[in-house]
Amino acid sequence: MTSYASLPEPGPTITIEDFLKFKEFFYRRTGISFEATKRYFVDKRLVERIEATGTGNFRGYFTMLRFQASGEELQQLTNLMTVNETYFLREEYQFQCLVNSILPEIVRQKTNSNAIRIWCIPSSSGEEPYSIAMYLLEHWSGIREWDVEIISSDIDTSILRRARAGRYSSRSVQHIPAPWLKKYFKVIGEEYQLCSDIREAVEFTRVNLSEPTETLSYRNFDVIFCRNLLIYFDDISRQTAAETFYEAMNPGAFICLGHSESMSRISSLFKVRKFPEAIVYQKSLETK
Ligand SMILES: C[S@@+](CC[C@H](N)C(=O)[O-])C[C@H]1O[C@@H](n2cnc3c(N)ncnc32)[C@H](O)[C@@H]1O
Repeated sequence: MTSYASLPEPGPTITIEDFLKFKEFFYRRTGISFEATKRYFVDKRLVERIEATGTGNFRGYFTMLRFQASGEELQQLTNLMTVNETYFLREEYQFQCLVNSILPEIVRQKTNSNAIRIWCIPSSSGEEPYSIAMYLLEHWSGIREWDVEIISSDIDTSILRRARAGRYSSRSVQHIPAPWLKKYFKVIGEEYQLCSDIREAVEFTRVNLSEPTETLSYRNFDVIFCRNLLIYFDDISRQTAAETFYEAMNPGAFICLGHSESMSRISSLFKVRKFPEAIVYQKSLETK
């Protein structure tokens, strides 16, 4: 007779109904919308967390996700569900636009303060806000006169830890010119450690862009970079994001999106500005 005693226990399974329930819940919490084509990606991570938490099956895990007071498990899972792809000087033409076109216009508009506030959301592991900091130092003479603040946010707490540490792979730094690499990084084994001056120029914060209570204190920005996030949202969460940005921006402020993202399709709150280097969006100067 065959003995079944040594057969491994079957792992937890995620049914289509479970996937749909989770998809709706996660969308409401984060704005991220998973299509059916992402099912394998989602199921794999759910199974991983069901096993790690010892909740045994989707039902038990889903109850924990929804009712755990600390929200710790939702954060753990969110960290696994996000796509953090990024690298230094990605879509560099926008940084050229920042120093050649956007900042000169902002500076002309400013009469009552010498502070320029830049919000970079999502930051992922920090390559984008750090690229902005280096770009300003290297290419913008106004850096000496203006008090530039760069605040960079992401929903993913583990990627923010990596951003603050500022240690990168050779793939991540591959587009950085050699003199900048030499000036701003120290090679440690196979990795590149960003110097503390640049790291200290950026403040990293955890923010869920889809949760209005979390963005309330983000105000008075002159420039916002929101690149390669809206592609993970559906039209409704994109619209909410546009309204959040509008509230966060000074009159006359600018917003830069990723190359495959467009604000005009989502919202009429901003006007399109076509600069020689890039197309960006602007909040009207007349509004308050
Ligand atoms: C593909 S990366 C883009 C990074 C960088 N802006 C770039 O273009 O290279 C997308 C990031 O969006 C973050 N993200 C996803 N949903 C978010 C939300 N609701 N609020 C804030 N950040 C979010 C993810 O954690 C991830 O790090």
